[in-house]
Amino acid sequence: MKRISLTQYLVEEQRQNNTIPAELRLLIEVVARACKTISHAVGKGALGEVMGSAETENVQGEVQKKLDIISNEILLEANEWGGHLAAMASEEMETIHPIPNRYPKGEYLLLFDPLDGSSNIDVNVSIGTIFSVLKAAEGMGEPTEQDFLQPGSQQVAAGYAVYGPQTVLVLTTGNGVNCFTLDREMGSWVLTQRNMQIPAETREFAINASNARHWFPPVTRYVNELLAGDAGPRGSNFNMRWIASMVADVHRILNRGGVFMYPADAREPGKPGKLRLMYEANPMAFIVEQAGGAATNGARRIMDVQPEKLHQRVPVFLGSKSEVERVTSYHQA
Ligand code: AHG
Ligand code: MN
Ligand code: MN
Repeated sequence: MKRISLTQYLVEEQRQNNTIPAELRLLIEVVARACKTISHAVGKGALGEVMGSAETENVQGEVQKKLDIISNEILLEANEWGGHLAAMASEEMETIHPIPNRYPKGEYLLLFDPLDGSSNIDVNVSIGTIFSVLKAAEGMGEPTEQDFLQPGSQQVAAGYAVYGPQTVLVLTTGNGVNCFTLDREMGSWVLTQRNMQIPAETREFAINASNARHWFPPVTRYVNELLAGDAGPRGSNFNMRWIASMVADVHRILNRGGVFMYPADAREPGKPGKLRLMYEANPMAFIVEQAGGAATNGARRIMDVQPEKLHQRVPVFLGSKSEVERVTSYHQA
């Protein structure tokens, strides 16, 4: 079979469909290269001094792992000098990171969760990187946080890498979703799945059930109906999976369907869920919608939420359309 590299795929997209301007192509290639470097570091494990805690806290008050910091630095360094970006923002940085003045600047804004699923690093379970690309407003001067606060519907590209048994990169530029597998010997990304489609119907769900006592009634009702199986109102048995790495859960759903939920709950009043809108929920929502699925916050489409803060959190329901629509409708009842 003829192998198509990420580069060739991007060039052909640019030529045939004109969906990928040259600068965006460079950006995606640079992010993919950074993910390759992160994959390499992840793969070293205990041999590479990448495991364990860094004993620092990020802006959300979460203890950072060494790999959170290493991955953040790899992404920053890779993307600084190419001339394609105006600024970057990351889960691991309190404020935005404008491109230093010694480099040329471009029109794109890059956001990332450098290492998703941090709790899984030390136990050798799949982890990943999530990224989202926005366009800076025309004529923008020195970039500010305000420039990033665009709804997810404005994204021009989004993707994630999973560092698992295989390293894969899943990408959308608004023209479907494609998956590339890292050829570790050759060091190249090879197109392995074209136009991924999430099955509309599913019998599988993902939620951290240890929080059940804190859930609000719509989520409790929905999950109880699934748990009741063929004896309950759904008349069918449902299976459950929870990896605690959003990248890995979403990747499973992209491949065989399912619904992923990280709802708001009553644990900390005023905290709207755990996942971050701008570099977790929005890029995943873009990918999921492009693959024929749906993504809501229980009330509306995630990509229509107007962000107010860089690190704001949002409830997430995403995956197979029929189930996302059902659990969303329970919030409206
Ligand atoms: P991160 O490692 O970037 O902080 O994200 C972890 C997120 C997400 O990947 C996962 O779905 C969720 O946290 C797991 O949360 P629980 O530990 O509450 O299950
Ligand atoms: Mn994350
Ligand atoms: Mn993270």
